Amino acid sequence: MDHSANSIPKVLIFDSGVGGLSVYQQIQARYPQLDYLYLFDNEAYPYGELPEQVLIERVVKLVANIVTKQRIDIVVIACNTASTIVLPHLRQALNIPVVGVVPAIKPAAAISKQAIGLIATPATVKRPYTHDLISQFSSGVKVKLLGSTRLVMMAEEKLRGKTVNLDELKETLLPLINKIDVAVLGCTHFPLLRSEIQQVFGSKVTLIDSGEAIAMRVGAVLQVESQKNSQSKKNHYSIYSSAAPWDGAALNKGLEHFGFSPVEILQFQDA
Ligand code: DGL
Repeated sequence: MDHSANSIPKVLIFDSGVGGLSVYQQIQARYPQLDYLYLFDNEAYPYGELPEQVLIERVVKLVANIVTKQRIDIVVIACNTASTIVLPHLRQALNIPVVGVVPAIKPAAAISKQAIGLIATPATVKRPYTHDLISQFSSGVKVKLLGSTRLVMMAEEKLRGKTVNLDELKETLLPLINKIDVAVLGCTHFPLLRSEIQQVFGSKVTLIDSGEAIAMRVGAVLQVESQKNSQSKKNHYSIYSSAAPWDGAALNKGLEHFGFSPVEILQFQDA
């Protein structure tokens, strides 16, 4: 890709909520020289409970709309639930690269000696895409599925400053406790709860997500070098939502730590 000296490539990160921040964090840490813009569709959150057709239409409409208004060089669908079905539709609608995120079954299978737990949204654990991924890449290792929207909500709450209730987390993860040695965080919200999930499972369970692989993919597509060790500066990237977020003041405070300005509501015209 050709980037002239004064055009810094701009990365659009998209999710239903704050989960995409876990992916953004990985990309930004590796490529701090890029520009970032974040869009979340909180009006239709949680994606894990939406009918497929509604989800496809929303994502294509919202992303195409922002791409026409802003100069975006690459779209990252930082949401497993959306990526498992919308990528072909989005690629057809846009003429810039689109990178998606899918559960990291393959690296999990490479290290598991017992069984893998795939923790994702209720929609992701049901999708044929996920089941194909498992049959193609699990190398015969047993994969136990756990779909939960409550976990997604807990990540949203944590970002707004609420302490995670470990008893509730334990209860949610109970079907997998002592039954797996590798857990795949198959929803981008879940790495935001990494330390708490690790605490509940214990140190013998390895947690795997797709953030780093996505970051490397973005770098490869944009043909940019990692500047991982460059000095970090305070950023004020823009972040848009499709509706007024709940507990906006607490959310903005959380977002500031990630280098974002306060949330702006996307002025969205129907095509
Ligand atoms: N962060 C999303 C994912 O990776 C979805 C959360 C939701 O809206 O249900 O699947």
